[in-house]
Amino acid sequence: MGASLLRLHFHDCFVDASLTSFRCNSGCDASVLLNDTATFTGEQTALPNQGSIRGLTVIDNIKAQVEAVCNQTVSCAAILDVAARDSVVALGGPSWTVLLGRRDSTTANKSNADRDLPPPTFDLANLTASFANKNLSVTDMVALSGAHTIGQAQCLNFRDRIYNETNINSTFATSLQANCPRTSGSGDTSLSPLDTTSPTSFDNAYYGNLLSQKGLLHSDQQLFNGGSTDSTVQNFASSASAFNSAFTAAMINMGNISPKTGSQGEIRRSCSKVNS
Ligand code: HEM
Repeated sequence: MGASLLRLHFHDCFVDASLTSFRCNSGCDASVLLNDTATFTGEQTALPNQGSIRGLTVIDNIKAQVEAVCNQTVSCAAILDVAARDSVVALGGPSWTVLLGRRDSTTANKSNADRDLPPPTFDLANLTASFANKNLSVTDMVALSGAHTIGQAQCLNFRDRIYNETNINSTFATSLQANCPRTSGSGDTSLSPLDTTSPTSFDNAYYGNLLSQKGLLHSDQQLFNGGSTDSTVQNFASSASAFNSAFTAAMINMGNISPKTGSQGEIRRSCSKVNS
């Protein structure tokens, strides 16, 4: 569950929920939590989210308990940010200070979610561009990808890699095939760990996996594939403390993507819907 909560925060921060066609102040604002209604389409049915984001009811439960103690004071965006941090800590990873005071969106934007969340088919250049688009550096990108030291992915997101790619350890590829048949439509939603070495510990094993061509997603292995990010991957694989400090710095940078403050947005009473 910690993995799902960390991913929710990422999928919140990367998406501008504003409905205008140009970039406006909107990022880590809990837009991802808004459910669709008869008259409103949110971000949950965007391709990177549908059938794939988990942990929404956990956030709802936390919000209900916080509301019971202190009415309309702690935003859903703040809860998402804190839950991501506390999930990392609970799984053995580093801690950092979350800036509080951010507020919630009153809308969401499905097409921006489809446009801005990087798919696992991306190559290094596209990954770099999608993080640069959010003012995040290449080092931030490599460090944040280390979140794949926990959690799981569905077969449909790594099938092509384990059957057709050549920059993959063959024993590793074979071991995944039983749970992920070659034929599309069969076993699509079967889960495998993103970090084959220590799937439930927040550590730097993800980078060691990349050095031995055991990245689960195409996009993971792109970070160590003879390109400009190889040396950063090697550094994070050999030094847990280098990874931890780069990861915490990058999480703070990601959490600072255009939060809503002051009188912008609102503090939702329930995270899945705007206040009525
Ligand atoms: C670099 C670009 C990234 C791509 C292409 C990517 C893609 C993916 C994909 C395809 C999955 C599996 C989803 C599924 O099969 O249901 C996944 C899972 C996950 N991602 Fe990423 N991701 C990226 C960056 C990040 C970042 C920046 C974070 C957080 C800081 C993150 C955190 C996670 C976590 C924790 C999971 C496991 C979720 C779970 O088990 O519920 N990812 N990602």
